[in-house]
Amino acid sequence: MTMSLLHTTDLTLTRATGERVLHDISLRIAQGERVGLIGPNGAGKTTLMLCLTGVIRASAGAVQMDGKPVTPGGFHPDMGFVFQQAEDQLFSPTVAEDVAFGARNLGLSGAVLDRAVATALDRVGITGLADRPVHHLSGGEKRLACLAGVLVMDPRLLLLDEPSAALDLRNRRRLIDLLRGMDQAMLIASHDLELVLELCPRVILIDAGRIVADGAARSVLGDAALMARHGQEVPHSLIYHARVDHAHPRHIV
Ligand SMILES: Nc1ncnc2c1ncn2[C@@H]1O[C@H](COP(=O)(O)OP(=O)(O)O)[C@@H](O)[C@H]1O
Ligand SMILES: [Mg+2]
Repeated sequence: MTMSLLHTTDLTLTRATGERVLHDISLRIAQGERVGLIGPNGAGKTTLMLCLTGVIRASAGAVQMDGKPVTPGGFHPDMGFVFQQAEDQLFSPTVAEDVAFGARNLGLSGAVLDRAVATALDRVGITGLADRPVHHLSGGEKRLACLAGVLVMDPRLLLLDEPSAALDLRNRRRLIDLLRGMDQAMLIASHDLELVLELCPRVILIDAGRIVADGAARSVLGDAALMARHGQEVPHSLIYHARVDHAHPRHIV
C-alpha cells in the first residue's frame, strides 16, 4: 500500500463551551492528490484546516504528515496554508519581505534566500510587485502574495481556504490555471463548486463537523439529493441541458 501524504484518524474538536466542532474526521490525502472540501457555512472547513496544520490543537485523534505526527504549534513547512483573509497572513512591509519570511524560517539567507523569493514571486506572476507595500495590493494580488509566501517553502501539501472568494473572473481564472499547473497535493475549501470541479477529482463534503461524503467529485457534486440535504446545489455544469433555453430540474431534489 502506498503511504498517504496526510493521514488523520478520528480527529475531534470540542470547544471550551462543550460545542463539538469536528467529529471523528478520518481522511487520507495521497501525494499530489487534489481534494475539494465543501460544506455549508459553519460546517467546520476552516477549523479542520487549522487542526490539520497544527494551528489549533484537536481534542482527540491524530494528524500525520508523511508518517510523522503533526505537533500543534510546531513549524510545518511541508504544509502551506493560504488563509481566507489575506490580511491575516500578510504582515511584512513589502511583498518580497513577506515572502522571504517563511524561507528565512527554513534557514535560507543571502543569495539563496533572494533566489527563493524571486522564484516564488515568478511562479505566481507578481515579480513586478516585489517592493510594493502589502497594503497597496488589490484583493487578487494579496491572494497571490499569500500563495507565493507558502510556495517559497516548497510545501508538499497546499491548504487553500476559499481561494477564489472576492476575486474577479480574470483573477479567478489565473488562480485556477496556476493551481492546475502545480504538482503539490491540495485541499481546497470552497463554495465555488465549478472551481472545485475543475481542479479536484475528489471531493469531501462536511456538515456539522462530520464527513458526510468522500468520493469522486462528479458523484458527490452531482448527487442532487445529497447536496440538497446539506444546503448545497449541484453545480450548473453537471446539470443535463437538453436545450439552450433550458429549465433546471430542481424538482428532482
Ligand atoms: N474562534 C472560534 N471560537 C469559537 N467558535 C468558532 C471559532 N471559529 C469558528 N467557530 C465555530 O466553529 C464552527 C465551524 O466554523 P468554521 O470552521 O469557520 O466553518 P466553515 O469554515 O465551514 O464555514 C462554527 O460553528 C463556528 O461558529
Ligand atoms: Mg471557513
